Order: sequence, then C-alpha cells, then structure tokens
Amino acid sequence: MSNKKIGIIVGSLRKESFNKKIANYLMQHAPEGYQLECIEIGQLPLYNQDYDEGNTPQSYSPFRTKVKNMDAIIFVTPEYNRSVPGVLKNAIDVGSRPYGQSAWDGKPAWVVSSSIGNLSAFGANHHLRQSLVFLNMPTLQQPEVYIANVQKLFDEQGNLTDEKTGKFLRDTLSSFIAFAKRFDKL
Ligand SMILES: Cc1cc2nc3c(=O)[nH]c(=O)nc-3n(C[C@H](O)[C@H](O)[C@H](O)COP(=O)(O)O)c2cc1C
Repeated sequence: MSNKKIGIIVGSLRKESFNKKIANYLMQHAPEGYQLECIEIGQLPLYNQDYDEGNTPQSYSPFRTKVKNMDAIIFVTPEYNRSVPGVLKNAIDVGSRPYGQSAWDGKPAWVVSSSIGNLSAFGANHHLRQSLVFLNMPTLQQPEVYIANVQKLFDEQGNLTDEKTGKFLRDTLSSFIAFAKRFDKL
C-alpha cells in the first residue's frame, strides 16, 4: 500500500478561515494510503533576495524541506483584491529560492479557491496558476474548483454541512490523485 504525502497550503492565516475549514475537510477525507498535511506559512518573514547569500531566516529551511518531502501540493486560497493573498505569494517565493533549488519543482498541484462572494476567488485561482506554470508544477485542469458563498457551507463548529460541495471536493481530490499518479509522484 502506498503511503504518499500531500501538502496543503492555505492562503489565509485567519483563525476562523473558511479556506482552513475546506483544508480540514480534505484532510479528514484523504483516501487510504494518502496523508494530507497542512504546511504552515504564517511564520515566514517576507522574502528578501539578500537572504540567499546568507543570514537566511530560521523558518525558511524547515519550510523548504517540508515542501520538498511532499509528493504533491494542494493550494486552498481566498482572494485578496482580485489576486493571491500576500502571505501565500510570499510562501511561494520563499520555496522557490535559492535559484535552482526550488522546493516546488515538478510537484503536481491542485488549486482550490473560495470566497464569501459570488465570484469564487476566480482571480486568485488564476493568478496562482500563472506562478505554477513558472514553478514547473503540473496542475490539475479539470474539474476546476471555485467555491462561492463559502460562509454558507459550514456550521458553527466548522463542519461542512453542504453535501453537494463535500461530494465535489472528495471526487476532485480523487481526480487530483489520479492526475498526480501520471507523474509517478503518487
Ligand atoms: C484584504 C482583503 C481583500 C479581499 N478581497 C477580496 C476579493 O478580491 N474577492 C473576494 O471575493 N473576496 C475578497 N475578500 C473577502 C474574502 O473572500 C473573505 O474575507 C474570506 O473570508 C477570506 O477567506 P478566509 O475565510 O479563508 O480567511 C477580501 C478580504 C480581505 C481581508
């Protein structure tokens, strides 16, 4: 039986983040043989290219190692001002350097976006995809996952109560695993 590791990176640091709740749902519904684990990004100081010449912030190395140890990556993100939240872009930049040692290289990726509005963080989803092209991360194309009005899908305890969304997330997680297997990663 395979025991593959899939990292989940959430683009919100908010305690009650809906995107964190989606990530939790995915972790709770990982198929047997697959371990889904959240990779924290809030502790990473803003990337500065000078760090590549020494004096690297302490938190960078464990973060980069953690990403490198994953077989695939899931991004679950909100949209800030029609783009990716700065904290997520910072994590992407930190993981991508030093030049030639990117932790992301070749890892299959899946992008999930959600918003409290109707547009489902489409802008963030596609700005993120633009970075994933450069990072050489083959990304699941279909089904696309845009979750609108996300605040209506959870109860007070943070449980997903909308079964249609739950089934869609579980089914798309299976599609992502099948997709990633094509790259001999899972
Ligand atoms: C700085 C900021 C910018 C935002 N910009 C957008 C936006 O462009 N599009 C959108 O749909 N929602 C936007 N929102 C609302 C978010 O969808 C909402 O805060 C959501 O709950 C954030 O995700 P989270 O619950 O995972 O923290 C913005 C929120 C903040 C704080």
